[in-house]
Amino acid sequence: MVRGRILSGMRPTGRLHLGNFTGALENWVQLQSDFDCYYMVADWHALTTDLEHSRSIRERTHDMVLDWLAAGIDPERSPVFVQSHVPEHAELHLIFSMLVTVARLERNPAVKEQARDLGLEATMAYGHLGYPVLQAADILLYKANVVPVGEDQVPHVEITREIARRFNTVFGEVFPEPDALLTPSARFPGLDGRRMSKSLGNVVLLSDTPEEIQKKIRTAYTDPGKVRRNDPGNPIESGCVVYSWHGRFNAAEQPAILSECQSGALGCVTCKTRLSTIVGDEFAAFRERRAELIAAPDRVLGVLEAGRDRAGAVAAATMRDVHEAMGF
Ligand code: TRP
Repeated sequence: MVRGRILSGMRPTGRLHLGNFTGALENWVQLQSDFDCYYMVADWHALTTDLEHSRSIRERTHDMVLDWLAAGIDPERSPVFVQSHVPEHAELHLIFSMLVTVARLERNPAVKEQARDLGLEATMAYGHLGYPVLQAADILLYKANVVPVGEDQVPHVEITREIARRFNTVFGEVFPEPDALLTPSARFPGLDGRRMSKSLGNVVLLSDTPEEIQKKIRTAYTDPGKVRRNDPGNPIESGCVVYSWHGRFNAAEQPAILSECQSGALGCVTCKTRLSTIVGDEFAAFRERRAELIAAPDRVLGVLEAGRDRAGAVAAATMRDVHEAMGF
C-alpha cells in the first residue's frame, strides 16, 4: 500500500509548551509510523507578525527543533527543515498568488480574526493577507495529501485545496487536494485558564525542570469557591485548570479526584503537588534526550542541513512538473 504523505509546520516560537505538545507535536510523533512526514519550521510565516524580531528567529528555530527531536521526531524517517532553506516555497507561492482572488483571501476567517486581534484591519501587509497562499505552497510543494492541523488552520487547508484544483484545471493535473487531519485534543488551557500561549505568560514548557513545573502549577487557577482544603469544590463548572490537566496526564485517577474534590476530602495543595509529580515524570525522558542533544555539537544544524537536502530534492522535482505543466 502506498503511504500517505504529510507536511506540517510550526512557526519558530522557541522552546515549546504543553499546549504545543498536546495540540500538535505529540500527534506529529505518532503520525510518523503511518505516513511519510515532512516537518517544517515556518520562518517566513513568522515575518507576518514578528518582523521586527527577525534576528531572534534563528535561535528560536534551534530551540524549537531541539524540542521536536527530544519529543521523538525522528529526522531519519521524517525530514526536518526550515522553509527559507528551500527557495522553491517562494517561487511556488508566487505562481499560486496568481490563482486566488484578493476577495477570497479577504474572506478567510482565520486571517480576519487575526487582523481583529492584532488591530491590523487597516494596516495588514500584502504578505500577511497572502499567508495562506504561502501555506498552500508549503503543502503542495511536497504533494502532501494529509495536513495535521488544529481547528484554526482548517480555512487555510481549504484555500490550499482550491488552489490545487485551480492549478490542475488551468495547467493539468499536478497536485493532490489535501485533507486536513484535525488534531484530537486541540484545546489545552494555560495556568490561568485562558488558551496556553507564551505571550500570555501562562505556560509550562516541555523543558521546564520538575522544580519549575511545581512552582508554576502552584499558581494554577482552581475553583475560587474552594478556599479551605475541606470546602467542596466544583472543578468542572469553575474550569479548574488542575483538574483539566489531570484529565490529560492522569486520566485514570481523574474520576476519583473529582469526587474527592467535591466532597472536600482533597485540597488544592495536595492535588497540585500530585499533578506536578505526574507532569514532571511524563517529561523526564524528554528532558534527558534534550540534554543529550544539547551535548552533541551542532546536532540540530546537521539535522536541518540533511532535511534541507531531502526536502529540496522533492521540491525541485515538483517544480519541474509545474514548469512542464505551464510550458515554461
Ligand atoms: N500556519 C501554521 C501555524 O501558524 C504554520 C504553517 C505554515 C503550516 N505552513 C504550514 C501548517 C503548512 C501546516 C502546513 O501554525
